[in-house]
Amino acid sequence: MLIAVDGPAAAGKGTLTRKLAEHFDLARLDTGLIYRAVSLKALELGDPSDEKIAVAAAEGLSFSDLDLAGLRDEAAGNAASKVAAIPAVRDILLIFQRNFAANPPNGKKGAVLDGRDIGTVVCPEAPYKLFIDASAEVRADRRYKELQERGDEAIRSAILRDIIDRDERDRSRTVAPLEPAKDAKVLDTSDLDADAVFAAALNFISLQD
Ligand code: CDP
Repeated sequence: MLIAVDGPAAAGKGTLTRKLAEHFDLARLDTGLIYRAVSLKALELGDPSDEKIAVAAAEGLSFSDLDLAGLRDEAAGNAASKVAAIPAVRDILLIFQRNFAANPPNGKKGAVLDGRDIGTVVCPEAPYKLFIDASAEVRADRRYKELQERGDEAIRSAILRDIIDRDERDRSRTVAPLEPAKDAKVLDTSDLDADAVFAAALNFISLQD
């Protein structure tokens, strides 16, 4: 089984894919963490928007980097969307992601991946594709709440601005821009809670079989 979940920042992909992974006993890969890790490693080496530096960081990536401290900070998310616009970086990370989908770790029989281009580029053959969306306002509220619950300092207006900037970068880049695959189920979750999104996803998956 292979499930592709895409969507813009803070749309609730992580919550949904955790539930799907548990329900279907799948390996789960949050591909945003990979771009976040590359951006942090690139920052250590110098300017992350310098292609040579970003490529070196991507080439040196290992699974243990997905536990780096600070990976979930908003700054890492913003830096990630800059390295993610570099085609050579995406090419290197594509291999890592496809390998995960084809050979799910820990003896799992399938995988669920979330990101921006899973249904369009990484796993276009996935039989189940979901595109999770919500208004920028709702997404900013969700991220604000998430950061507060974690005890991080957060300013809602700054989060909203960052989300809008990041969406714009992700949608307008030339390689693998953020967009729903033609055969993806688009779910506007602005008025849905996490359980309702999960129920809608399960319903869509059952209809494909
Ligand atoms: O958690 P959040 O939705 O805020 O972001 P993320 O999924 O961790 O992704 C961080 C950034 O990585 C995104 O803004 C994208 O620019 C980039 N990304 C990508 O280009 N392709 C993916 N498959 C996943 C993330």
